[in-house]
Amino acid sequence: MLNSLTIKIAATDSEREAAYRLRYDVFDLEEGDHRYSDHNRKFWIDQDDGPNSTVLIALDQEGCCIGTTRFTLLRDQTFIGLEAYHLEVLAPLLCLTLEQLCEIVGRWDRGVVTRSARGLGLLQLMEVQVAGYAFRHGCKVLVATVKPDNRAVLSAVEKSGYHTYPAIGSYGGFTGQLIYKDLRTKFSTPDESIL
Ligand SMILES: CC(C)(COP(=O)(O)OP(=O)(O)OC[C@H]1O[C@@H](n2cnc3c(N)ncnc32)[C@H](O)[C@@H]1OP(=O)(O)O)[C@@H](O)C(=O)NCCC(=O)NCCS
Repeated sequence: MLNSLTIKIAATDSEREAAYRLRYDVFDLEEGDHRYSDHNRKFWIDQDDGPNSTVLIALDQEGCCIGTTRFTLLRDQTFIGLEAYHLEVLAPLLCLTLEQLCEIVGRWDRGVVTRSARGLGLLQLMEVQVAGYAFRHGCKVLVATVKPDNRAVLSAVEKSGYHTYPAIGSYGGFTGQLIYKDLRTKFSTPDESIL
């Protein structure tokens, strides 16, 4: 199944909307998380889904969106809940000042795979593309948050080379473990990244 997939940047309104709809199906309908639900349009969309964030989509052979995720470079756009990422804790771990980290850090979030395609490694495939794209756009460190009880995502991010750092991210009713990936040392799959 994964061999026949297309992973691409959502470049048109309808491609972005397919991503927002898949998020709605999973986050709202499946998981009951209504924080960013637009029930009229059946979108799960937030204020960071603007022109400065990059949305990736995975399309199956029929052109259906079966996976999506998002990347935002802090230099381009301040994140929702930026303070919850506790970059002041991460910077010294990476031997950087906070100012240096803010120049090269990006957020990876909104990873979703449709139910029937789970367990095949699609999130990891999308992450490879995010990391490659991020790296080529000057991002050297990716940060993300994961719910500690979300075993599926914890397993996937561990395999993708993420590490925890000692702070808890709490924003808007969501509390998660903070994780990071240092692309300066961990970026090992540039050839597989095509975006
Ligand atoms: C989290 C999620 C994106 C992972 O995507 P994925 O492409 O299925 O990830 P992987 O194929 O790498 O599988 C990761 C883990 O999922 C679990 N898994 C396997 N099959 C599964 C299935 N049919 N359904 C659910 N989880 C499954 C396994 O624990 C697997 O770990 P393992 O490889 O060590 O066995 C996907 O499960 C999902 O969309 N979940 C709901 C939304 C969500 O939680 N998003 C994360 C927000 S932080």
